[in-house]
Amino acid sequence: MTQSLTITRPDDWHLHLRDGDMLRAVLPETARHFGRAIIMPNLVPPVVTGEQAGAYRDRILSALPEDMMFEPLMTLYLTEDTDPEDVAAAHASGLVKAVKLYPAGATTNSASGVRDFDKVRPVLEKMAEIGLPLCVHGEVTDPEIDIFDREEVFIDRVLDPLRQATPGLRVVMEHITTAQGAVYAQSGGSDLAATITTHHLIINRNHILVGGIKPHYYCLPVAKRENHRQALRIAATSGLPCYFLGTDSAPHTDANKLQACGCAGCFTATNTMALLAHVFEEDGALDKLEGFASKNGPAFYRVPENPGQITLVKQDAPVAFPEQIKTPDGPVTVFDPGFAVHWTVA
Ligand code: NCD
Ligand code: ZN
Repeated sequence: MTQSLTITRPDDWHLHLRDGDMLRAVLPETARHFGRAIIMPNLVPPVVTGEQAGAYRDRILSALPEDMMFEPLMTLYLTEDTDPEDVAAAHASGLVKAVKLYPAGATTNSASGVRDFDKVRPVLEKMAEIGLPLCVHGEVTDPEIDIFDREEVFIDRVLDPLRQATPGLRVVMEHITTAQGAVYAQSGGSDLAATITTHHLIINRNHILVGGIKPHYYCLPVAKRENHRQALRIAATSGLPCYFLGTDSAPHTDANKLQACGCAGCFTATNTMALLAHVFEEDGALDKLEGFASKNGPAFYRVPENPGQITLVKQDAPVAFPEQIKTPDGPVTVFDPGFAVHWTVA
């Protein structure tokens, strides 16, 4: 029996495309299904100024195969030296759709992130004034705090005080991984939202650690206990407008993943929509997939929904997704959910 579901073309509200050869290799994986994506600025060196974001946007568009349509939504990497006027100009021109806050040292390429939040106060106030969202990597970096508690502690110690101190600031809690994150995301009306990744709906920390370490399941924030995964499933399938898809698809070559100190990141661009159809069907919520992937994000970011549609088809035989994407730097392994998937994008 064939079953199909047609939805508004989705967007990815948190994506790593990298640069150069890697960009050319991974971009089609996203552009095939998604109309737009919020492009993370954690290049080396990071994308800090409007001028740098414009140049990166041009590189993305020139890497796009001619037969594909895709709009990169650019972000600026917030540093303690970011100029509020540069941010405002990049927003006014339509180039930049968000500013990204990385606590210094929290994740891949975050060394230029924020240590002293007082130093970025003028930028945050300008952003509140002009309605430009702040995308937050919500983990404390305090070595005293257990890695599995870093999101929960961030909300209490950093995020809530920061929001109280900056009325009107619009915030996206990126890639939430905890029940506490899901609850907090509901507390800010139309000025607060959370993205949820595909992989955090599928794996918990056992998948990373039981029966041998699985580097391809290691990402940041790290997957938590099963009760948190279940809370994320409830959030994503709730239909509530504060939750939408941000895959955090983060390509690293196998050589960089499979080593004594391996990189964090799951590469899910290739099979995300099929996996989401599986997950939403399993939870009896296929009717909520379009809101999560295609409608809630545009509503928060105050942009129109994509004009086109995609059709997801369920087939009897399991779908064979590529195990790897080849790049000149070496292969990138595609996220393996660990179960048979019968959905595919037509
Ligand atoms: C991301 C990356 O590789 O750039 N890695 C990850 O595990 N998610 C960085 C990030 O989003 O934290
Ligand atoms: Zn990310």
